[in-house]
Amino acid sequence: MLQVARIRGGHVLRGSVRAAGSKNAALPLLAASLLTGETVTLRNVPDLSDVRYMAEILGHQGATVTNPAPGVWTIRAEKVAHRTPYDLVRKMRASVCLLGALVGRLRQAEMAIPGGCVIGPRPIDLHLRGLEALGCVVTVEAGLVSVDAARARGATVPMGGPMGSTVLGTANLVMAATLTPGVTRIECAAREPEVVDLCAMLLRMGAKIRGQGTGVIEVEGVASLRGCDHTVIADRIEAGTYLVAGAITGGDVTVTHCEPAHLTAFLDKLREAGVRVETGPDFIRAHGRPTRAVEVVTEPYPGFPTDLQAQFMALQLLVDGRSPITEKIYPARFMHAAELQRMGADIAIEGATATVAGGRPLSGAPVMASDLRASAALILAALVAKGETWVQRLYHLDRGYERFEERLRSLGADVERLPASAPPKGFAED
Ligand code: EPZ
Repeated sequence: MLQVARIRGGHVLRGSVRAAGSKNAALPLLAASLLTGETVTLRNVPDLSDVRYMAEILGHQGATVTNPAPGVWTIRAEKVAHRTPYDLVRKMRASVCLLGALVGRLRQAEMAIPGGCVIGPRPIDLHLRGLEALGCVVTVEAGLVSVDAARARGATVPMGGPMGSTVLGTANLVMAATLTPGVTRIECAAREPEVVDLCAMLLRMGAKIRGQGTGVIEVEGVASLRGCDHTVIADRIEAGTYLVAGAITGGDVTVTHCEPAHLTAFLDKLREAGVRVETGPDFIRAHGRPTRAVEVVTEPYPGFPTDLQAQFMALQLLVDGRSPITEKIYPARFMHAAELQRMGADIAIEGATATVAGGRPLSGAPVMASDLRASAALILAALVAKGETWVQRLYHLDRGYERFEERLRSLGADVERLPASAPPKGFAED
């Protein structure tokens, strides 16, 4: 049943929220469980539709998947099918990270090429070029990619593309290389904490990996991998989102059970914008509204994360002056700007740069979510808009945020999730 969020602005958010496990770590970790026939137990897995969907795909591939307690998933893939059908892949682009696990375990894979999405084309050319560098025979036909790794051997694999490194591309090559004979050297590897977490789990499974977190990851193939018990890292993007919720309302929010070191570039930008930020071993506190217009450029980790771009744009709506935001990862990731303009925002887009002319009053309006981070940004803006805002297509939000409106309410926000039939006249669900 389609749902909408109704937000009444004007409340100051105060208190603390616990960061959930990372969606972007959990999805490759779930895929990696296919690399062994033994049981893999994952803990601190976030309760998200994307996670439940990935678990469904693993079941389809032949794994036995259980969810014995909140946040705990066990996967045992004694037998694994090498083919993943289109109707499963098309709904979640991230399922492309099954490719590396299937190639690693079975030496072959066949998968529909995932489509694009609203934030831009989502090519996998770097993934496929990397597998070919390993000696895999890769064929693409009728929207299907087939990989034959019978003759694959360790090799040097350049993974850089026009936008730099690729997160899931690196994850795929690391997974494939763990069971490929010889030493594989992945160059221009993604440094994201989610890739480091994947490597941590693979090491527990008996893989031989070094250099994770740097631009060069070396993997020495082993004959097989064993089961393991692994706890997923905290979600740095979710943590950043709640910090913006505190700052945008001029409140005082602490996110606990998170890793401040995973958000350095983002926290530096919050401070540059005038938000007061304090950090401890496993918490981050943001208090006070931003007072300065700042420039943001999104980059691969450890640069400013593209997944916090929309949320930061909402924050800068409060600040007099011009805040240019340039997307060097997804140049078209500005769908949220048009919706924010419906609330009174002044945002000019030129190529890959959206310039916020902040300081204008925001008023509630019916708006539409387009992707999971945009939906969060719209709700953040609604927290400080005058009157009521209705956000449609909440299913985008539920892909990446666990009980988002509950957590915001616990901080003092007035936000409700309602059936799509609830909004005022003239605002029908799609
Ligand atoms: C991961 O996607 C994340 N998803 C994305 O988070 C995140 O925005 C992205 O990394 C960048 O940080 C998951 O981890 C599940 P990329 P991924 O390959 O790996 C280009 C969210 O909101 N590229 O690092 O698919 C690509 O077009 C989601 O949680 C190629 O050209 O992203 C993009 O411009 C959205 N060829 C850039 O590289 C390729 O073969 C970075 O993409 C692959 C990528």
